Amino acid sequence: MATITGVVTTSHIPSIGRAIAKNLKQDPYWKKFFDGYPPVHAWLEKTRPDVAVVFYNDHGLNFFLDKMPTFAVGAAPEYVNADEGWGIPSLPPFRGDLDLSWHLIESLIAEDFDLTTCQEMLVDHAFTLPMKLLYPDDGPCPIRTVPICINTVQFPLPSAKRCFQLGRAVGDAIRAWNSDARVVVLGTGGLSHQLDGERAGFINKPFDVKFMDSLIADPEWATHYSIPELVELAGTQGIELVMWLAARATLTGSVQCVHSNYHIPISNTASGLMVMA
Ligand code: DHB
Ligand code: FE
Repeated sequence: MATITGVVTTSHIPSIGRAIAKNLKQDPYWKKFFDGYPPVHAWLEKTRPDVAVVFYNDHGLNFFLDKMPTFAVGAAPEYVNADEGWGIPSLPPFRGDLDLSWHLIESLIAEDFDLTTCQEMLVDHAFTLPMKLLYPDDGPCPIRTVPICINTVQFPLPSAKRCFQLGRAVGDAIRAWNSDARVVVLGTGGLSHQLDGERAGFINKPFDVKFMDSLIADPEWATHYSIPELVELAGTQGIELVMWLAARATLTGSVQCVHSNYHIPISNTASGLMVMA
């Protein structure tokens, strides 16, 4: 049966793509952010995953406001990146894993999750940049991928509790997958940020710190908040933290923090990073 090597949760911000393209990793603005990743590379080298299951939210590249699935799972042989208008270079297509995609889809629908299945799917910065941060070498990403989108863009959004349940079901399904593959689970987005409206620029460090701690000791802590409460605490885009909850929920039993980093600001965002296993 397949094994989960661990979970990586990280912010996704378009300007990271520009910093990578312009080789700004040692630039004073960027250094503290990029310095968070070498320990993740070392952990990936040690744990050698074959495939990544990536919880993220699409920002209008693949789904627009006219058609917005609550939960969508990719079932494509490859996932193509495209220009989103941020002026960052697009990355080569990401290889899929059809066997795992359909196993997840069948398992989740059997567990009463109503999914959209995507046999073609463009992937945006929220998928591509975290994968590039984990696998920075030139050329195509070396591991296979399965994207899972959670709507955090068009209200009404699924509750934090439901996202956690989705993650739990994905974890159970991965462990029941008849394969010897090693699977790393990613959750991308957050932490606190708000890009629009009167609170544009809003960041809440005490909440972010509490949230990161809770993922180890009390992972369902944030699921007791409603979506409006989480928006109040973390910002309209900070609600992307539900991706961290879904990813964390794939792990059961005792979980350790292997590595973490937190840095304010990157663009408008409090950037966070955790490796849990
Ligand atoms: C920013 C953050 C995001 O999560 C995003 O999707 C786009 C932009 C930002 O801080 O600039
Ligand atoms: Fe985002």
